[in-house]
Amino acid sequence: MRGPATTAAPAPREEWTGQVGFILSAIGSAVGLGNIWRFPGVAYENGGGAFIVPYLVALLTAGIPILFLDYAVGHRFRGSAPLALRRLSRRLEVLGWYQVAICFVIAVYYTAVIAWALSFFVFSFDLRWGDDTAGFFVGDYLQVADVGGADPWFTLDVVPGVLIPLLLVWVVTIVVLAAGVARGVQRVNVVFMPLLLVAFGALVIRSLFLDGAAEGLDALFTPNWGALTDPNVWIAAYGQIFFSLSIAFGIMITYASYRRRRANLTSPGLVVAFANSGFEVFAGIGVFAALGFLAHEQGIAVADVEGLTGPILSFVTFPAIVSQMPAGPLFGALFFGSLVMAGFTSLLSILQVVSAAFQEKLGWTRAQAAVRVGGAAAVLSVVGFSTTTGLIALDTVDNWANNIGIVSSAVLLCILLVWVLRRGEELRFHLNAVSTITVGRWWTFCVAVLGPVVLGYMLVSRVVTLIVEGYEGYAGGYLVVVGWGTIVLFVVASLVLTRTRWRVDPDQLVAWPPYAGRPGGGDR
Ligand code: ALA
Repeated sequence: MRGPATTAAPAPREEWTGQVGFILSAIGSAVGLGNIWRFPGVAYENGGGAFIVPYLVALLTAGIPILFLDYAVGHRFRGSAPLALRRLSRRLEVLGWYQVAICFVIAVYYTAVIAWALSFFVFSFDLRWGDDTAGFFVGDYLQVADVGGADPWFTLDVVPGVLIPLLLVWVVTIVVLAAGVARGVQRVNVVFMPLLLVAFGALVIRSLFLDGAAEGLDALFTPNWGALTDPNVWIAAYGQIFFSLSIAFGIMITYASYRRRRANLTSPGLVVAFANSGFEVFAGIGVFAALGFLAHEQGIAVADVEGLTGPILSFVTFPAIVSQMPAGPLFGALFFGSLVMAGFTSLLSILQVVSAAFQEKLGWTRAQAAVRVGGAAAVLSVVGFSTTTGLIALDTVDNWANNIGIVSSAVLLCILLVWVLRRGEELRFHLNAVSTITVGRWWTFCVAVLGPVVLGYMLVSRVVTLIVEGYEGYAGGYLVVVGWGTIVLFVVASLVLTRTRWRVDPDQLVAWPPYAGRPGGGDR
C-alpha cells in the first residue's frame, strides 16, 4: 500500500466539550430506528419474554466487549476507522474503509426512513392515512411498484411525497456535520436526547393506560422458553445488539477519537450500553401496550394483529392505533417525532464516520467533507429510495448490510486485532490505563474467543440461509444484484480507498499512554 506522498500535518483533532456531551452523543448514536422499530418486533418473534436471556448474553459477551474494543482503538489511535486502524497496523486500513463503506450505504437508506417518519409526523395531525393504513403507506405514500417476478427491479419514478422530506433531512444533516463535532453533532444530541426521553416517556405512559395494554405486555413478555433451543433466536439477539449499539462499523471508533487523551472510557461505555438497552425495552413496552389496545379494539388476540415487525409496524400498524385512540394526533406526533429524533441523531453518527475518514485521508475541510459526502449520499438516496421501488431496495440492502456487512466486520476486527496482530493486551492496557472501571481477562476472552466463534457461526449460517432460501421471496437475480452486490461494493470501495494516496500524513502519532509491550504503539 502506498505511503504518504505529501507531509501536510494533520489539523488539531476536534473534541467533545466534556463527558456529558460525549455520553449523550454516544447514546444518541445507539438509540435509533433499531430501538423503536426493530427491537419490539424482534423480541416478540424470538421467544417474547424468553428473548431477554439471549439478548442479555449477547449484550454482555459481545455488545459491551466490542464497544470497549471500538473505544480503545479510536481513543488510542485517534482517528476515524481507517486512520485509527492504519495507525494500529497498516494492514488494517482496508478494514477501516470497509466500515466506512457500510456506514455510507446505511446512511443512504436510513435517511429515507427518517424522511418517512417526518412525513408521518405531519400526517398525524389530520390522520391523513384514513382507515386503510396499509393501502395508504404502500400505495398512496410510497406508490410501490411490484417487484415480484417480471415487474421492474428498479425505476427512476421519484415519489414527490418522499423526495421533499428526504431533501430536507439531507440539508439539515449537511449543515450539522459542517458545523463540527462539538458545535454541530454534540449540540443536536444535547437538545434531542432529553427531548426524546420526554416525548417517548409520555408516549409509553399513555400507552400503559390504554384498554388492552396488559394483554399487549403479556404478548411481549410471556416467555417461550422453547425458543432458546433455536439458534436463530440467538442469532437474532446478537444481530440486534450490533446494529443497536452502533458497534463494529466504525461509529464508536470515530466517536471515541474525539475524547480527550485523559478520558474515562469504560464507565461511560456501560452507561451508554445500559441506556441503549433500557430504551429498547422501554420502546417494547410502549409499542406492545399500544398493540394490546389495537387488539382490544378489534376484538382479537395480539398475536392475530397483522404487521408486528419492521416498517409495517411503524408505518401501518401504528397509524391504525393512532386513528382509533382518543387524542390520537398527539400520540401519533409523539411517536413519529420520537422516531425522527432518534433516527436523526444516529444518522449524524453514521455519516460522521464517512466525513471524518475523507477529511483525514484527503485533507478536505469539514465543510467540504459534509457537502461532498452528504451530497453524494443524498443523490443516491433519492435515486435508490425515494422511487416506487425504494421499499424493496431498502429492505434488501438493510438485510445484507446488517447481517453480512456488520457481522463480517466484527468477526474480522476481533480475529485480526487479537489473533493476527496480537494487540489485544495493548488495547486492554489502554482501557485500564485511562478508565476507572478496569477490564479483566474476561474481556480478552470475549473478544478473542467467544465473539469470533459466535459471530463466525452466525455469519456462516446467515450466508447459507440467504443462498439456499433467498430472502422474502424476492427474485433470485434481484438479490444477487442488490443484496450480494452491496457486499461486493463494500469490498471494492475498501480496496480502492485504501489504495488512494494520503494527502495528510497519517503516521504522526505516538500512542499514549506508552505500552511496555510495544512502546509508541503501531507496527510501522
Ligand atoms: N444504533 C442505531 C440504531 O439503532 C444505528 O438505529
